[in-house]
Amino acid sequence: MWWQDAVIYQVYPRSFQDSDGDGIGDLPGIERRLDHLAWLGVDAVWLSPIYPSPMHDFGYDVADYKAVDPVFGSLADFDSLVAAARERGLRVLLDVVPCHTSIEHPWFGAHPERYIWADEPNNWLSAFGGPAWSRLNGRYYLHSFYPEQPDLDWRNPDVVTGMQDALRFWIERGAAGYRVDAIDRLLKDPELRDDPPASEPFGLPLSDEEARLALTHSRNAPDTAAALARIREAVGDSLLVGEVYLPSAKWQPYLEHLDAAFAFELLHAPWDASVLRAAIEATTRRPGAAWVLSNHDFGRLVTRFGAENARSATLMLLTLPGPAFLYQGDEIGLGDGPGGERRFDRAGRDRYRHPMQWDGSPAGGFTTGEPWLPAVDPERTNVEAQRDDPGSTLALVRDLLTLRRLLADGVELLDAAPGVLAYRRGEHAVAINTSGEERPAPLSGDLVLETAPGALRRRVLAAHSGAVTMGLLPTGMG
Ligand code: GLC
Repeated sequence: MWWQDAVIYQVYPRSFQDSDGDGIGDLPGIERRLDHLAWLGVDAVWLSPIYPSPMHDFGYDVADYKAVDPVFGSLADFDSLVAAARERGLRVLLDVVPCHTSIEHPWFGAHPERYIWADEPNNWLSAFGGPAWSRLNGRYYLHSFYPEQPDLDWRNPDVVTGMQDALRFWIERGAAGYRVDAIDRLLKDPELRDDPPASEPFGLPLSDEEARLALTHSRNAPDTAAALARIREAVGDSLLVGEVYLPSAKWQPYLEHLDAAFAFELLHAPWDASVLRAAIEATTRRPGAAWVLSNHDFGRLVTRFGAENARSATLMLLTLPGPAFLYQGDEIGLGDGPGGERRFDRAGRDRYRHPMQWDGSPAGGFTTGEPWLPAVDPERTNVEAQRDDPGSTLALVRDLLTLRRLLADGVELLDAAPGVLAYRRGEHAVAINTSGEERPAPLSGDLVLETAPGALRRRVLAAHSGAVTMGLLPTGMG
């Protein structure tokens, strides 16, 4: 399978490259930047939603599953992007949002029976806080996210066939598969019973409000796998990666029909070797992990972990076995934008979505107009400045993408000093010091080099030339 060890680059279309000066990224802009992705060496691009949308949740509120929002371009632009990507050996994945539509989707007015209604709300909560129910015409409709995103009823056959039709549409146009949005919310208890009080931790971070409940009825219903089978039926053997917000111990029904699930235990782990190790151990107990450390919903590596650790986090992301998702901007160590303000996203996620920085100009080369969100620090962090610098984060990522191809299947976690995460993939070993203090090298007798600028490049060459063991030991490691 092409995706088995693929690196899939997440493009947030609004913020990658603008081509018409309106300050919002678009499909022709993405096409213009494909050479960067080909040069970097990724295998595929995943586009966050490009469908027509009133943008209450920036495209995750879909008003038409078979068209392109004019702000991003047209279907012809999509076709052109796919063709240009193909010429460069890149695949294009889309984001499918099957659990809810936009309140402006024609179904919501014309076919209310395709949604979930109640005379009285139960205690289910919206992911963004507060009740998951809003009142309309004397009844309540369910919305697991914003009120502008009514939940579909997947037990209604018209919902299933309508969504299958949409899934086929893009595969026939050349999409290589989908990232499947919020899929643990696809089916809920048909009797709409209250979520009982929590008796044990959920296993992933939740809001205080959610953590008080065992989220057993509001999501992850027992017939989920049957619905996923219908999604699979529509896409053949195209790639399906699920956003399953559940601990990996609960992945099984999802992996019956999806190829992989995002490993949220690792994404949420603090920068501490023992916690990272436990997350990797739990997640790799069964196949199916897709690795991800940041995206449009979560803080960026540099902001969360600090610049030096962000390099090590990238090393970890790109040397674990299985597909890895790299968020646009992480390859240059872009940080979060100004925090706190809620200009566009009411859940406060604008700061993870600032435009890509291509050069040192005020808008970072993203647009000739006024960017919808300002650049973060374009003069310091941009592609152009890092491209020919062997010590840059960009060079590190590019080297890791080469090195990845040499790594054997599977992963063996190694014993190491406290604060050191170490693992082996066949002949190659990786060691990451999270302690901030000097630590002995865990790989005695093996060739271990440290992360001086350019060191990884030498190591990649060495790895090419024969059987050497590699370790990457960030600053201070002896
Ligand atoms: C997923 C998306 C997120 C969106 C939510 C609702 O979690 O990643 O951005 O808000 O689903 O569709």
